[in-house]
Amino acid sequence: MQISNYMTHEHRACDTIFAEAEKAVAAGDWAEAEQKLLQFANETLTHFKKEEEELFPAFEAKTGSTEGPTQVMRFEHEQVRGLLGKMGEAVEKQERDTYLSLAESMMILLQQHNMKEEQMLYAMCDRVLPPEDKGQIIEAMEKVEL
Ligand SMILES: [Fe+2]
Ligand SMILES: [Fe+2]
Repeated sequence: MQISNYMTHEHRACDTIFAEAEKAVAAGDWAEAEQKLLQFANETLTHFKKEEEELFPAFEAKTGSTEGPTQVMRFEHEQVRGLLGKMGEAVEKQERDTYLSLAESMMILLQQHNMKEEQMLYAMCDRVLPPEDKGQIIEAMEKVEL
């Protein structure tokens, strides 16, 4: 199994839940919106944890670089975490317009972030890491919980 396939699949799964949350907000179904946003947050934060605790350290160890692409990705994860908090508040207060505008920023941020990972970072991981290492990393990522 390639790192790219495994991680890209998770990006797509998060995108789907994100769209469902937005649809619920637009329809004024706040109970559904809250549940979907929570699910999106859990999936996204677990995915980030897999990257920050397993994949990025393995890449950094192999390439000897801790200040390159992984640093940028970690910084963007923090931006996403900040936006998630604000979106949670908007759902709690049932502020439709605030939510939709935050969701717009989130979508742009995540699209760019995920594209950089898929086209650059994951592709580099698949190139530089030996197959047995990749197997172990995926196994370790499977065990990561929030
Ligand atoms: Fe990431
Ligand atoms: Fe990612």
